[in-house]
Amino acid sequence: MLYKFAALSSLVATASSKIIYAGVSESGGEFGVYSNTATPGTGLPGRFGVDYAFINKTTVDIFVDQEKINIFRITFLMERMCPVNFATGKGLGSKFNETYFSEYADAVNYVTNVKGAYALIDPHNYMRYNDPSQQPGTGSVIGNTTDPRAAASADFKAFWNELASRFRTNPRVVFGIQNEPHDMPTSLVLQNDQYAIDGIREAGAPQLILAPGNGYTGGHSWTQASQGDAPSSEYLYKLVDPLKNTAIEVHEYLDVDFSGGHVNCTSPGPTYLANLTSWLQQHNLKAVVGEFGGGANQNCYQYIDDLLTYLADNDEYVGWIAWAAGPIWGTSSACCGQDTGNLEPNTLNDLGQPGAFDTVWKNAIHPNIPKVLKRSGVSSLTL
Ligand SMILES: *[C@@H]1O[C@H](CO)[C@@H](O)[C@H](O)[C@H]1NC(C)=O
Ligand SMILES: *[C@@H]1O[C@H](CO)[C@@H](O)[C@H](O)[C@H]1NC(C)=O
Ligand SMILES: *[C@@H]1O[C@H](CO)[C@@H](O)[C@H](O)[C@H]1NC(C)=O
Ligand SMILES: *[C@@H]1O[C@H](CO)[C@@H](O)[C@H](O)[C@H]1NC(C)=O
Ligand SMILES: *[C@@H]1O[C@H](CO)[C@@H](O)[C@H](O)[C@H]1NC(C)=O
Repeated sequence: MLYKFAALSSLVATASSKIIYAGVSESGGEFGVYSNTATPGTGLPGRFGVDYAFINKTTVDIFVDQEKINIFRITFLMERMCPVNFATGKGLGSKFNETYFSEYADAVNYVTNVKGAYALIDPHNYMRYNDPSQQPGTGSVIGNTTDPRAAASADFKAFWNELASRFRTNPRVVFGIQNEPHDMPTSLVLQNDQYAIDGIREAGAPQLILAPGNGYTGGHSWTQASQGDAPSSEYLYKLVDPLKNTAIEVHEYLDVDFSGGHVNCTSPGPTYLANLTSWLQQHNLKAVVGEFGGGANQNCYQYIDDLLTYLADNDEYVGWIAWAAGPIWGTSSACCGQDTGNLEPNTLNDLGQPGAFDTVWKNAIHPNIPKVLKRSGVSSLTL
């Protein structure tokens, strides 16, 4: 089985791949706010290095120097960047907590300026703001005009305008508008995405932008209605970027309900992405798979290999980013069943066995890292 893998993968690696971004999520900046009783404000603002942390520079070195990946998706929490009790607006906007920003910027600058990789900025908020105590469900949907506590789409634009202005001159930054919007009108996802694009471009920032759809931005459900909300496919092609440097971000887990909550893989990526692929082709759009994962077992290794081979074979896809590494997971699983562990190098799973970097990454992801990836220039859709 493993030999078969090696043969398959070496073919993939030598074929001319259109994948120009390959990497991993660095999750941890959003940690420490969960409350069993959904008590707003739990873990805020939090303690750096204890409740939350962005990267471990030593393990970023391993990913760049040894694995040769070129992108890190770095998560953060909007309630930490823009504290809810800030006097202006509803909290979300252009006034930042400079301490949290500088901790975040230090991670971004290390990845980009020191290591020469790309950093995908990820507000990990599900298009909600003001109460992350039971993400992904809590918090007011941004732009919900019937919720008096909700931040407005204009506040979201002001937030992105400020953030983009701070990274405007760093060519290796990519702007991810938002992690996994869900259970909201798809027209409002489009509106908020457009406000973000406008805010970023008005800041004079030319870099690549990734726009999510509804339904946790699931690739498999892109053309389907979810919870009564219109399919992402009915709205997202309407996005306007004057620089035409925006792509779609989808997430795709390979388990039974596409959640990443199960150890076994049963939903093949090539089957479930086919409708999205046609839609991308029809609208001349590109996509990045910003999250994916499978459990630590041979069956999932094959599913992951099939997914990454499919992405390499279809020109509509320009990148993939695995979920997830990060400095403070401990032995917790980032996805795919409680014993899978996470992708942070040199960590163990909850059974005291090697974690997912030594299993899932080594067996299924590492062999699919293209030799040729984008290594310089302003982030864009071409090498
Ligand atoms: C800003 O963030 C720092 C670091 O988390 C925290 O110590 C400080 O209390 C925060 N300030 C506000 C106003 O939230
Ligand atoms: C918008 O706010 C209203 C009033 O709080 C609420 O009933 C509704 O569910 C919210 N809509 C969404 C999409 O969250
Ligand atoms: C996963 O699949 C294996 C092999 O088919 C099976 O033995 C096991 O029970 C499954 N585990 C779960 C949690 O479904
Ligand atoms: C693809 O779209 C067709 C037409 O809407 C639908 O019948 C089919 O179930 C979709 N395929 C998948 C795998 O979701
Ligand atoms: C960072 O990673 C290195 C290498 O795995 C490890 O030795 C070190 O303890 C980590 N640092 C922190 C603060 O977790």
